[in-house]
Amino acid sequence: MKIFIDSADLQQIREAFSWGIVDGITTNPSLIKKAVEKLKASGEQVSMGDYIKLMLEAAQGTPVSLEVIGTTEKVMTAQGLWLHEHFNSVAGNVVVKIPVNPSLQRGDGLSYEGLKTIRTLAERDIPVNCTLVFSPEQALLAAKAGAAYVSPFAGRIDDMLRARAAYPGSKTDYFPADGVKGADGVMVHDNGLRSGVQLVSECVALFHMHDIDCQVLAASLRNPQQVRECAIAGADVATVPFEVIRDMIDHPKTVEGMIAFCKDIVPEYADLLPRG
Ligand code: E4P
Repeated sequence: MKIFIDSADLQQIREAFSWGIVDGITTNPSLIKKAVEKLKASGEQVSMGDYIKLMLEAAQGTPVSLEVIGTTEKVMTAQGLWLHEHFNSVAGNVVVKIPVNPSLQRGDGLSYEGLKTIRTLAERDIPVNCTLVFSPEQALLAAKAGAAYVSPFAGRIDDMLRARAAYPGSKTDYFPADGVKGADGVMVHDNGLRSGVQLVSECVALFHMHDIDCQVLAASLRNPQQVRECAIAGADVATVPFEVIRDMIDHPKTVEGMIAFCKDIVPEYADLLPRG
């Protein structure tokens, strides 16, 4: 499984790439907002365009998803083409992120604008990451429209189910992949899905079953256990926030083991090895 970093923070991106385990980057308008606020607070002067170029270079040739901000096919297509035209020459790694359904309210007539945009961009060989996917049905439609990736948002489904079940914990806490019961003793679900991991798992199963050429990019991941479960579910990619990637390496028994091994080093062995 590939690991993408879910961040627009250049410092985080560079550090995570230095660990040798990152295969790409995903951004969204909220992550860009966070990065811009951090830049402003630091007093650093850099244009948005230059900042994106630095991010594309930092990705070392791996894919970087940049999201459009429109809600109609016309605007999203224009933005997708613009992003690709302006930035793909930097490192050849731009992926355009398009919402599966850009409606801002039911019945506003925008429901199919995302799919139409995906189709138009895919026809021009521009890779699309279809975002805000909350059901395997949406994933199927996005893949049929030509998306290269679909991003099921595991954590946000869990947020919703956690609230419905009044299940304890915050949004970064683990939510059981098998789901939980509500106060009435009935399993809470959304459209038959009991957890975000199940959403990812069903997208994977559906694509395998029908031999669909589209990668499942597990998104909105909030803790290491959720990353593990998405990996076991067969996700092609997990996009993981910096803090969660950092948590994935930690274990108190590893620290305990290191301390014990360091204590046991004998001079005979230490003298044999270069000091670096
Ligand atoms: C995915 O591409 C999104 O950027 C991201 O995973 C959303 O995560 P969140 O639900 O924690 O905001």
